[in-house]
Amino acid sequence: MYRSHHCGELRISDVEKEITLSGWVQKSRDLGGMTFVDLRDRYGITQLVFNMDDNEQLCSEARKLGREFVVNCSGIVRERSNKNPNRDTGDIEIEVTSLNILNASQTPPFTIENDTDGGDELRMKYRYLDIRRKPIQENLIFRSKLALETRKYLDGQGFIEIETPFLIKSTPEGARDFVVPSRLNPNEFYALPQSPQTFKQILMVAGMDKYFQIVKCFRDEDLRADRQPEFTQIDCEMSFVTIEDILQTFEGLTKHLFSSMKNIKLSEFPRMSYDDALALYGSDKPDLRFGMEFHELGDLAQGKGFSVFDSAESVIGIVAPGIADSYSNKDMKKLTEWVQRPQIGAKGLVYVKLQEDGSIKSTVGKFFDDEALRTWAERMGAAKGDVILILCGETEKTRKQLGELRLEMGRNLGLMKDGDFKPLWVIDFPLLEWDEETERFHAMHHPFTSPKQEDMDKMLSGDHATMKSLRADAYDLVINGSEIGGGSIRIHDRALQSKNFDLLGFTKEEAEAQFGFLMGSFEYGAPPHGGIAFGFDRLNAVMNGQSSIRDFIAFPKNNQGRDMMIDAPSPVDNQQLDDLHLSMIPKD
Ligand code: AMO
Repeated sequence: MYRSHHCGELRISDVEKEITLSGWVQKSRDLGGMTFVDLRDRYGITQLVFNMDDNEQLCSEARKLGREFVVNCSGIVRERSNKNPNRDTGDIEIEVTSLNILNASQTPPFTIENDTDGGDELRMKYRYLDIRRKPIQENLIFRSKLALETRKYLDGQGFIEIETPFLIKSTPEGARDFVVPSRLNPNEFYALPQSPQTFKQILMVAGMDKYFQIVKCFRDEDLRADRQPEFTQIDCEMSFVTIEDILQTFEGLTKHLFSSMKNIKLSEFPRMSYDDALALYGSDKPDLRFGMEFHELGDLAQGKGFSVFDSAESVIGIVAPGIADSYSNKDMKKLTEWVQRPQIGAKGLVYVKLQEDGSIKSTVGKFFDDEALRTWAERMGAAKGDVILILCGETEKTRKQLGELRLEMGRNLGLMKDGDFKPLWVIDFPLLEWDEETERFHAMHHPFTSPKQEDMDKMLSGDHATMKSLRADAYDLVINGSEIGGGSIRIHDRALQSKNFDLLGFTKEEAEAQFGFLMGSFEYGAPPHGGIAFGFDRLNAVMNGQSSIRDFIAFPKNNQGRDMMIDAPSPVDNQQLDDLHLSMIPKD
């Protein structure tokens, strides 16, 4: 028998029991007459004790144990004289009567503790050691339970989980495809799905009514902390629904997940239009854990002889509360340098300090007297002790820069509190966005998204001048500044879908070749339908107050898209290339 109990199980009530445990050596301490070994498994740590006086041979065996040795032992549960209140098993220890080394271990390349000294790449290379660490284990256990709760909720709402294929044709979600050569079809390629978008729509045409899938998606795009080349979605689609039905259903799912996983009751999610999100926060994924909304100051600050403002399309400010006296000139200089970094790209920062003693200090004091500055403060609801921070320039850029500054101030002032969750729906997205580089429109969400009913005629007119103003029946779920999910009501009419492809610059032939199967299905009774997909890795990270999704994925890839453990991608041998009809690729 390998074990009668696991390493997190034994308590004071088990004292005097004869037990057997198996696990890994966390650490061992040799105190001369006594040797103590911490034995670890997924469930916890139990202290083993070996006494030289009781059994010299066993004790010298124990002294040979190194970190991460796998052992099996039997013994008697004893009450500890010096108890460890920080450990569930801290009241007891095991007086070992037999010890069996199941496997030795090399000294691990980093410490297997809650805080490890291993760098990211090393941890990924030895992921099996990293996963032995409690924080990673807890993340993976959380993920498993989150998937289970998702299934419970969606099953309760009548959704059916249906698998869709991985070897498919391109689905346009805005990234590049990973392609897979076909051996049986020379010079032809599958694409791995960026999402199951077209299949879930086909399932609606097929009458499945409510579909979901917890599914891998693949996107060949630049990687960041919240982006992996393969990631997981909670992907859903529903028939005969309005936006309202979808928002209600998935607000329900989100509330269920927070309540069942974290015992947090979320109240009704606010809804904000895309335009308002940009005008108030400079971002379509605003972090609502703190205020600091934007205020337009152009009408007050322009035309007064300060050329920097006068030549700008927009002058916009935020109020940083309570820092007028604590932020020194040096701090303000640092902040100015921060917005001038190339990643942010502002030309400069104007500030107005409303000091506690009632005086005002400003970088634009030469151009604006105190009375003028007070009208700005009044407009912005700024009070004594606050600092007004102002950026100006082209509207879109200025909003983006100020949005970054707002987040930086939120971080600096500790306004993004752990354990505080502020979800919202961002709605009324534009249907299309203009891409300067390719000089064509792209679908803001994806090309299957329906324009709003009231914009339908405008869209059908095909007038390019009005295309930017078209609104879509699309929505995003945002939590604490992270885009958790996105979806839309879909086009279900062949002519309209075909028109949309026209606007996006597809020729009839291209549209037919890529999406003929979907448009064809619309001719056989496609119901009105819509859906959403949540980024499952992101949801896990955000629910645990983390910005990186890596540690919620068992085997993540690094920023170059490499799996450090198995060393992929890697070259394949010439025979394999020949079989795949790829021998034209230069060989080294
Ligand atoms: P979208 O492209 O917005 O929509 O993706 C949905 C959600 O998936 C997450 N996500 C990612 N997570 C990790 N790594 C990535 N590379 C990555 N890319 C996206 C985000 C995002 O909100 N088919 C549509 C959904 C629909 O219309 O129903 C889709 O995939 O959290």
